Amino acid sequence: MKSFSIIVKKKINKFNKSIFVEGDKSISHRALLISSQAYGVSKLRGILEAEDVLNTINALKKLGVKIVKYKNIYHVYGNGLGSFKTQNNLTINAGNSGTLARLLMGLLTTYPHKIKIIGDKSLSKRPMGRIIAPLEKFGVAFEPKDKKTLPVYITGSEMPIAISHEEKIGSAQVKSSIIFASLNTPGITKIKELKKSRDHTENMLKFTGVKIKIKKFKTYNLISIEGQKDFKAFDLNIPGDISSAAFFIVLTLLAKHSSIKIKNINLNPTRTGIIIILKKMNAKIKLMNIKTKCGEKVGDIVVKSSTLKSINCPASLVPSTIDEFTILMIAAAKAKGITTFSGLGELNKKESPRLNLMNSILNQIGIKTKLKQESIKIIGNPIINLNKSYIINTHFDHRVCMSVFVMCQIFGGHIKIKDFNSVATSFPNFLNLMKQLGAKYEIKK
Ligand code: S3P
Repeated sequence: MKSFSIIVKKKINKFNKSIFVEGDKSISHRALLISSQAYGVSKLRGILEAEDVLNTINALKKLGVKIVKYKNIYHVYGNGLGSFKTQNNLTINAGNSGTLARLLMGLLTTYPHKIKIIGDKSLSKRPMGRIIAPLEKFGVAFEPKDKKTLPVYITGSEMPIAISHEEKIGSAQVKSSIIFASLNTPGITKIKELKKSRDHTENMLKFTGVKIKIKKFKTYNLISIEGQKDFKAFDLNIPGDISSAAFFIVLTLLAKHSSIKIKNINLNPTRTGIIIILKKMNAKIKLMNIKTKCGEKVGDIVVKSSTLKSINCPASLVPSTIDEFTILMIAAAKAKGITTFSGLGELNKKESPRLNLMNSILNQIGIKTKLKQESIKIIGNPIINLNKSYIINTHFDHRVCMSVFVMCQIFGGHIKIKDFNSVATSFPNFLNLMKQLGAKYEIKK
């Protein structure tokens, strides 16, 4: 997609609306990858049609999986474990998606061909050592030796060995990569999960009938998976993405006399840290119509304009909030008092160095902060009202773009947001929905 900027010159007026956001990105990736390993035709409704997920579809097609979209339902023709069609010198492009790169390398553990995994400029800077080390224990070989970023060549093993791994980062991508590697590996793979991260992989595998056990202990979960057990195709409805809803939640809280209902959102407790944090900040948020569908909790989120106060956010909430800190920093910038977010080291390993980048954007518009390596203090200004012009560099980070867009709608000013096209990686309908609420903007090519 060609690069474009967004220009915002006016704040948003009050609104009162009910919306749907697009399908959950994490669940969409997993639905496609897991159904590719099942036997039979899986039917997936609500797949997010954003660039990251389209890259997953293309990667699977390149590996010989038939995927057909018919009447808005994705039909994935799975041929069971070990059924990818691989050959030496195949190249898979994961684009901007860390989830695709890391999860797919897990699935490639048992294919003895040399496959090149590449990504865009941003993904090529992100750490892959965290999955290379455990996959090597399964018997996978990576080249060049000691390289910890993409591009890499991966050669799977015909005789993989089940492993035991301690997951200390709180990364669902690392956990899922290992789970995927275990699926076609004989024996029982064990993961000691010391920091609990999103568990969509575990939920979906349980839903499909895979032998995955999760034992809960006081300080960790023990996940065990018995490999080489075939499973059948499934039908799945993918709910809306709370990480996309987050921008509308914060926009509504900060706007005057407004309300919004965001329907059918995934409310898995490993994803709802943002709701806990915002409620501690005095936000008027209600969760309604809560149900369990296809192994995942879903419901509607109702939000009303609120006067936010600062908090001291505990590091324990980081894994369940990880992608929402960029927009939470905007909320903190308008809250009364000094907000502290800690334990944010992982944020600098995302699509951009998000902690550092958001800190400089806040400083650029006059919000005072205190940045440390893993934490930030934000001195809120509840009466902030910008009247100058600013050009904001977003380092091609979709969540930074959308957070800054919300910021402009509330704080005012005349703001140019660069490289806004990156939003297509996770939320192609973002600008349309903002328009429906009355947001005004110009697109500059
Ligand atoms: C994701 C996990 C998180 C998150 C990312 C999606 C997933 O990354 O930031 O956007 O789908 O598993 P980490 O697991 O690396 O923290």
